[in-house]
Amino acid sequence: MADYTRPDVWALQAQREGYPARSIYKLKEIDEKFRLLKPSALSRGLPQANILDMGAAPGSWSLYILRNTALSLTAVDISPLSRQFDQGLFDDKKRFTFIQADMTSTETKTLIKERRPFFLVLSDAAPVTTGNRLIDTTRSLVLAETALEYAANVLAKGGRFAVKVFQSGDSNKLLRRLKATFDKAVSFKPKSCRRESFETYYIGIGKK
Ligand SMILES: C[S@@+](CC[C@H](N)C(=O)[O-])C[C@H]1O[C@@H](n2cnc3c(N)ncnc32)[C@H](O)[C@@H]1O
Repeated sequence: MADYTRPDVWALQAQREGYPARSIYKLKEIDEKFRLLKPSALSRGLPQANILDMGAAPGSWSLYILRNTALSLTAVDISPLSRQFDQGLFDDKKRFTFIQADMTSTETKTLIKERRPFFLVLSDAAPVTTGNRLIDTTRSLVLAETALEYAANVLAKGGRFAVKVFQSGDSNKLLRRLKATFDKAVSFKPKSCRRESFETYYIGIGKK
């Protein structure tokens, strides 16, 4: 059984580089491969450059985006963000809004719709794991399906999407739905995912 309480090499590197969670390296790998954050591609022909980051706490992905792009960002999580490393970036009201709420609730969906269009929708949301694979994959799928619903409703045409999902037979159906929603949809497992983890990311490029 894996010991998730002991920081691994990625967690230690994240602390050294000023990020609250090791998940930063998953976004880095995804971005290096798919160029999701590339401003030219994001802004070309699009009226605004907004990103939605769901399941954002403790805040590594949001911090990475605020540090490495000039784009504006709305982040959602049930839990609060860590303020350990942001050096005031999370206080920049012009670029950053944090909504502490359940992404599956109707109220949150309405709030986010009011902020559309987005050019990139990200979801790293994950349930608290129980160790029961059926329960964990089912809960993860609900979050991933919700993220795809957001993408369908708030992404601009041509927009991009990345969502975490715990793999199961049913998650393949979600990938098929991504293929119907985007010009290109693929599954990608970053090297920084824990070896024993069954999580992967589905990437959608070019919202139809
Ligand atoms: C792996 S962490 C995300 C790490 C984050 N990307 C980062 O870089 O710091 C998963 C997050 O999903 C959030 N989450 C789970 N269910 C959620 C829900 N229904 N609504 C909003 N956030 C949720 C959890 O609170 C948790 O903070």
